[in-house]
Amino acid sequence: MKNMDSFWMPFTGNRVFKHNPRLLETASGMHYTKPDGSRVLDMVAGLWCCNAGHNDPRVVEAIQAQAAEMDYAPHFNFGHTAAFEVAEQLVSITPDDMNHVFFTNSGSESVDTALKIALAYQRERGKGTKTRLIGRERGYHGVGFGGISVGGIPYNRMQFSAAMLPGVDHLPHTHDITRNAFSRGLPEHGAGLADELERIVQLHHADNVAAVIVEPVAGSAGVLIPPKGYLRRLREICDRHDILLIFDEVITGFGRLGSAFAAQEFDVRPDMITTAKGLTGGAVPMGAVFVADVIWDEFMGKPGSAIELFHGYTYSAHPLAVAACKATQQIYQDDGLFARAAEMAPVFEDALHSLQGAPHVIDVRNYGLMGAVELEPEEGAPGARAMRALQAAFDAGLMIRVTGDTLAFSPPLIIGEAHIAQAVDTVRQVLEGL
Ligand SMILES: Cc1ncc(COP(=O)(O)O)c(C=O)c1O
Repeated sequence: MKNMDSFWMPFTGNRVFKHNPRLLETASGMHYTKPDGSRVLDMVAGLWCCNAGHNDPRVVEAIQAQAAEMDYAPHFNFGHTAAFEVAEQLVSITPDDMNHVFFTNSGSESVDTALKIALAYQRERGKGTKTRLIGRERGYHGVGFGGISVGGIPYNRMQFSAAMLPGVDHLPHTHDITRNAFSRGLPEHGAGLADELERIVQLHHADNVAAVIVEPVAGSAGVLIPPKGYLRRLREICDRHDILLIFDEVITGFGRLGSAFAAQEFDVRPDMITTAKGLTGGAVPMGAVFVADVIWDEFMGKPGSAIELFHGYTYSAHPLAVAACKATQQIYQDDGLFARAAEMAPVFEDALHSLQGAPHVIDVRNYGLMGAVELEPEEGAPGARAMRALQAAFDAGLMIRVTGDTLAFSPPLIIGEAHIAQAVDTVRQVLEGL
């Protein structure tokens, strides 16, 4: 490799990375392999996506077979049988009244699709003034203009402030380590923060508000677990004011919390669910927006033959993605991986919380197979300590993710007790050596 600068890497300090690249060469099960042949235990499922582990032969073979059979099929006015089959299979695991799916290629596209469906739906039913969108501070909804507008991560917005969507408000985030530090599962304090939604709706009037979008558990901002009762309260306020609720489950979908979706885990029904990542286990890019019947019926319930939604992607339901999706979903089912995640969650929780008291640790939090260890930021250098931890962990054969000074964990759902013990021992040694 002569010049690493040909590749402008995403969300990466390119100049720093290229001085000391962390390269991955092969993958299998719970592990990556570096170019020198040493193994790396993957505690982030790649990037929150490889829920079935890496390179399961059942997925590899399905992709290979599809590639040999048909490379591409358009879904504008034509169709591929397998796409309809996989859609039917997928909606069988969504909440009962959510029986339709729109395919995209990524989480960002899923979010922008859901926001567009929300706006179009309000118009379709004659409520065209309902246009405002409400997101949340520290929310991550991908990198489209819609996603960064409803998202609440300052650096993701800063360079693009000239082009934020108009008519967007943000709820306050729910992260409160003064009251909730070292919570196991859902934190006790903060459900009342949902009432900010009522205040925003009162300010603009419900006639002007289309939808609220939140991650049930915020992932990219550092695994922020919703306080007890918070999501239910958001749902109640949305119901009271006839506002759509969108759960962005790009991370929490497909078993991460121990149920198929956070919607079921927390028993709170959104009107749309945005997904990607675990949908295909990361093997081929794919996203999906699950849509409640009430929305679908609004678009399809009228006479006429016009296109109902002027939206779609060349690669919506790409045959390779559909093949990967079908095989991955079959593995989830055959191997009972969502139940396995629920089973391993207490082991993961105990192990992670054993880091309370380790150097620099100011919080540990977890739900399902999603967890975080927050470190005290270094004076004048926020994020530096966590980045050093990431490097030291990688050198010691462990892949973690960092956001600011938070170390995040979201292992493949095939993880075993020995992997958890190894990961936490390595993190402890890393923190002791920082
Ligand atoms: C909640 C959430 N929404 C959207 C996205 C964007 O997904 P993608 O990177 O596939 O566009 C992510 C990615 O991490 C995410 O966590």
